[in-house]
Amino acid sequence: MASVPFDQLQGYIWMNGEFLRWGDAKVHVLTHGLHYASAVFEGERAYGGEIFKLNEHNERLHESARILGFDIPYSVAEINEACRQLLAKQGFEDAYVRPIAWRGSESMGVSAQNNRINLSIAIWQWPSYFDPAQKLKGIRLDIAEYRRPDPRTAPSKSKAAGLYMICTISKHAAEAKGYADAMMLDWRGQVAEATGANIFFVKDGVIHTPIPDCFLDGITRRTVIDLAKRRGYEVIERVIMPEELEGFEQCFLTGTAAEVTPVAEIGPYRFTVGDVATNLMHDYMAEVQPKRAAAE
Ligand SMILES: Cc1ncc(COP(=O)(O)O)c(C=O)c1O
Repeated sequence: MASVPFDQLQGYIWMNGEFLRWGDAKVHVLTHGLHYASAVFEGERAYGGEIFKLNEHNERLHESARILGFDIPYSVAEINEACRQLLAKQGFEDAYVRPIAWRGSESMGVSAQNNRINLSIAIWQWPSYFDPAQKLKGIRLDIAEYRRPDPRTAPSKSKAAGLYMICTISKHAAEAKGYADAMMLDWRGQVAEATGANIFFVKDGVIHTPIPDCFLDGITRRTVIDLAKRRGYEVIERVIMPEELEGFEQCFLTGTAAEVTPVAEIGPYRFTVGDVATNLMHDYMAEVQPKRAAAE
């Protein structure tokens, strides 16, 4: 079944302070954000009508913009309120929330000191990032050729559109080989993350995850580390080399879109969908939707 293109979905998009009809939320082709990737965005999820860690996400949006050298002309509180109002206007309980800020069309060229900073928010329904049947069995990952850059080469702490260029290339290459996604190494050859989610491994009941010094320290990553500690699991943040994957028993990804997704394969390495990944998958769902967890 052909899905509806994103520019033809229904409802409203919040853009620069106004609720526009979905189809009217347009930008001109000569937009700095499009040509020079001067854009930063967020990915948030609403569960049962509440956006999980809304303030933390919109704080990160502000920080991402600051790293790229611009200030978003709306406060975090104003963006939070716009997200809440739009969610209500769209009438969704469970949804994905996408704020994006970008430099506008006032001038074209690498320098764009005086271009307007725009902000828009769109909300749509996005039940599962990975195929739900595959998610339960554990997804299959390729190992990407591109590596997460040295923080001296790219603003790796910013959720900047430009940093996703290598993610799309890597994910497409993986999909062409029948994989769901790809694990990326970093510039030093250490295990980093997937193209849109952080990565964890389990060995002898202990959780291991790379230190996020050149990629996003995901909000889901931090939530899952807290949940794991609450369950009494030991969590070690450390350098992980790809050869070590041989010795890990379980693996899972974390991210706002991916939530907690078990991994069954990374290139030649195999993992089981075990108790730690499954427990944390359930704990995460209970954490993001406390009302539903309490009603069960
Ligand atoms: C490249 C990348 N790493 C990690 C994450 C996980 O971040 P979060 O848990 O804050 O969604 C994301 C998702 O936003 C991402 O795109």
